[in-house]
Amino acid sequence: MKKEIKFETRAVRTQLKSSPQKEHSVPIYATSSFVFDNAEEARALFAEEKEGHIYTRYSNPSTDEFIMKLCALEEAEDGIATASGMAAIYLSITAHLSAGDHLLACRNLFTSTHLIITRVLPRFGISHTYIDIDDDRAWEKNILPTTKMIFAESPSNPGLDIVDLEMLGRIAEKHNLLFNVDNTFATPYIQQPVKYGADIITHSTTKHIDGQGRTIGGAVLSSKEFIGDIRFTARQTGPCMSPFNAWILSKSIETLALRVERHCQNAFELAKFLEKNPEVEWVKYPFLPSYKRYELARKQMRMGGGLVTFELKGGEERAKRFIDALELLSITSNLGDTRTIVTHPRTTTHSKLTEEERKAVNITGGLIRVSVGLEHIDDIIGDVLQAIEKSR
Ligand SMILES: Cc1ncc(COP(=O)(O)O)c(C=O)c1O
Repeated sequence: MKKEIKFETRAVRTQLKSSPQKEHSVPIYATSSFVFDNAEEARALFAEEKEGHIYTRYSNPSTDEFIMKLCALEEAEDGIATASGMAAIYLSITAHLSAGDHLLACRNLFTSTHLIITRVLPRFGISHTYIDIDDDRAWEKNILPTTKMIFAESPSNPGLDIVDLEMLGRIAEKHNLLFNVDNTFATPYIQQPVKYGADIITHSTTKHIDGQGRTIGGAVLSSKEFIGDIRFTARQTGPCMSPFNAWILSKSIETLALRVERHCQNAFELAKFLEKNPEVEWVKYPFLPSYKRYELARKQMRMGGGLVTFELKGGEERAKRFIDALELLSITSNLGDTRTIVTHPRTTTHSKLTEEERKAVNITGGLIRVSVGLEHIDDIIGDVLQAIEKSR
């Protein structure tokens, strides 16, 4: 599809060619394997002399379509669909790093990514250095002769901290490092890391890409130059996405722009409401002028995202009373759903971090994370307000 075709059109119109049945909506290819016309074709496919599907752990039309759509939105050349976001992240790092290599990463990472970097990779001889997300000058200073990759998550979960992607892209290029960005929180509608020189983009498609909390999935996107090692590792180790999930996600992508736009509008309204409420200690949202890196957020993000974090006066106990007082909003740990979700990261998603690790990334006991959904904003604010009042 031509590059000048707009985001929304690419999301809707990138699809597999229809079958002889001439269906308008692409069906699921729910099959484990594919047949060969004869022994010679089987040999040629296995020898990679001919392109085609062999076995769904390797490739499948439904997962191919999903990746085609996501690549069209991220403006990436190629990709792999994985069973989860964590499979994507693990694959994106281990396909390229070996014993003796060093990884530079933002300290502000999703817990499982942090646990891969600090507990799993060291067992295979891969070391790391964490950089405080606001310390722009520390990146270059901490590059070692063995550094091979920069990994960043922006905005971060749950702190909503952002890093200067253009700066990291420049550093990665200058020092010949792979630049890997977890773009889960932004989605390609808000920012496209490829434009800042990212070599690898990872996603948990479980979140806004699915958008209705139905599937667990992930994706690694990259250039043709770097996808080969990722594809080889994925095919042999087997973290493939099921065709069923890929089919659901392809349909989800068609409405991504519409949904993310409304998530962001609602999140911005909620953030502004919270900022004015005297019971609120602080509120964080990238498009609030009070946000620490507001100018950077405006520069690299189209909108502020679908998440808001805040703390009520009264810390952790108040946060728990607030959550228990909610009547409409859901108490669960996912995000990016049509339904607004409220999470207490210290005791749930980020409970495996030590107190010291949480302190370093500002995850306080009072921090409340809201994934703002698609209900009417008056009803979202109404439930938050009554829970603030009730939790006094
Ligand atoms: C930023 C980020 N990356 C990766 C993941 C992991 O994704 P999954 O749960 O699909 O494995 C999450 C999950 O919350 C996340 O928030």
